[in-house]
Amino acid sequence: MHALRPTLTAAALVILTGMAGAVETITYPNRIGTVVFPHKKHQGALGQCRGCHEKGPGKIDGFDKVLAHGKGCKGCHAEMKKGPLQCSGCHASG
Ligand code: HEC
Ligand code: HEC
Ligand code: HEC
Repeated sequence: MHALRPTLTAAALVILTGMAGAVETITYPNRIGTVVFPHKKHQGALGQCRGCHEKGPGKIDGFDKVLAHGKGCKGCHAEMKKGPLQCSGCHASG
């Protein structure tokens, strides 16, 4: 999904990476099992912010279940053949 991975200038990446060092994980509690999103690991694996943050780092407007099960999470895993696709791969059981 190329729209998810546009390029970013090296200078901007340095600034943004510095800002985001602290965002280790992001947790989404919900009724079928909490999703713990390893944010920092994704920064490392993908090497940029722009692919996920079209408007700069921070909360993503309209991030919800539909986006998560689409290009926001699962769609990229399908595209890259990396990362979980099964419910239990993202939603902790119990
Ligand atoms: C694989 C996708 C992905 C990548 C790559 C990514 N992020 Fe995020 N980031 C997210 C998601 C999803 C959220 C949570 C959005 C929401 O819930 O509104 C988030 C949230 C954040 C937040 C807000 C955290 C909070 O709790 O308020 C910051 C700041 C942030 N990202 C910075 C960055 C920076 C800087 C980079 C690049 C070095 C980056 N992110 C790379 C997906 C990503
Ligand atoms: C790649 C990760 C991923 C996979 C795989 C995944 N989910 Fe999710 N799901 C999420 C995230 C992230 C959220 C939270 C979205 C939010 O709260 O903004 C979510 C939210 C949900 C919600 C809560 C909706 C709500 O409004 O409370 C349900 C129910 C759900 N998923 C069911 C499933 C089922 C069933 C499967 C398997 C068929 C599945 N998910 C697979 C990441 C995933
Ligand atoms: C732009 C692509 C992309 C997006 C968007 C993305 N992921 Fe991933 N995800 C990956 C890749 C690539 C890996 C494999 C990383 C590795 O193995 O180093 C991965 C791995 C994972 C893993 C396994 C981590 C581990 O330690 O093995 C989880 C869990 C995960 N993603 C959850 C999510 C959730 C939840 C979201 C949305 C909030 C999301 N991902 C969004 C590309 C993405």
